[in-house]
Amino acid sequence: MSQPQFEEGTTLDRFILESRMAHPGATGVYVNLIKGIELAGKMISSRVNKAGLAGMLGAVGNVNVQGEEQQKLDVYANNVFISSLEHRGAACMIVSEESDGVVRVGEQWHSGRYVVTVDPLDGSSNIDVNATIGTIFGIYRRLSEEGTPAQDSDVLRPGYEMVSAGYIIYGAGTMLVLASDGVVNGFTLDPAVGEFFLSHPDIQVPNDKVMYSINDAYAQAWQPGVKSFIEEMQKPERKASARYIGSLVADFHRNLLKGGVFLYPATAKNPEGKLRLLYEAFPLGYIIEAAGGAATNGRKRILDLTPDALHARTPLVIGSKALVAEATELMSQDPALA
Ligand code: AHG
Ligand code: MN
Ligand code: MN
Repeated sequence: MSQPQFEEGTTLDRFILESRMAHPGATGVYVNLIKGIELAGKMISSRVNKAGLAGMLGAVGNVNVQGEEQQKLDVYANNVFISSLEHRGAACMIVSEESDGVVRVGEQWHSGRYVVTVDPLDGSSNIDVNATIGTIFGIYRRLSEEGTPAQDSDVLRPGYEMVSAGYIIYGAGTMLVLASDGVVNGFTLDPAVGEFFLSHPDIQVPNDKVMYSINDAYAQAWQPGVKSFIEEMQKPERKASARYIGSLVADFHRNLLKGGVFLYPATAKNPEGKLRLLYEAFPLGYIIEAAGGAATNGRKRILDLTPDALHARTPLVIGSKALVAEATELMSQDPALA
């Protein structure tokens, strides 16, 4: 799908307002929702940039619903994200990695039209070393009637039903990448001005670079198809490079801009893989397809899957179309583990 022409330097606010005007009948609710996410991104970015000075390094001493140790910034980012959306009358329900069940927003906001899924802080293990981390989000339009409490069935749906998705990356600079109307645009935060400006219009994932990202410490646990793919990548004639930092959002972002493939496969110990469908694989799958790439679980298109639980996991192969196809072809012959 195409979008109205926007020149670089357009603010995110102007971009979402003017893109929505192209939708007949748009009421401004979606614009309000993205503004809430934008605000959360600015607040988290500011805190990430001074984490070491603001007493925000280290763990809080709790584990989340997945049994993972929560970092102070995980908890901060989750609270900021929820409070920025709760008061805007746009979201009726939030599913977050750091909250046990769904967060149903207060009764006064039951009119909210959208369900938001979020990994408030992806790459938590990189917080204390000042390496790139991010926030990943996906948006569904609710199925249940506005004005009533949202239902789990509003979110336990295939990824292709999302209406938009994005992430905010806190690296050397802060960027918000948004996929909507089938187009992916990147906005860079100017911290002095406090605004996101369009810096990467209509992102398309390159197909000519061979970059692969996988945690090869688990190589002995890989299935034959994954092993064959990585061996293929390591042949000198492929001229490939490997990059893996352990923040999905950072590895994904680099591969989106430069071209490459990220894999987090299933193993006998983790037959469903590690990454979560609703707030990691679906949003990034939605973005990569809009950028001309692909995402699978090693067999099927990610966006065709339906989660059976809020925190359901999936193996993930995501990136440039040709590399994802090559990996999936080999992996689809492996026996299913789950
Ligand atoms: P989170 O910080 O949200 O829990 O996600 C961590 C994820 C993901 O960002 C990353 O790609 C992966 O964990 C790394 O896992 P390994 O250390 O097993 O490679
Ligand atoms: Mn994550
Ligand atoms: Mn997280």
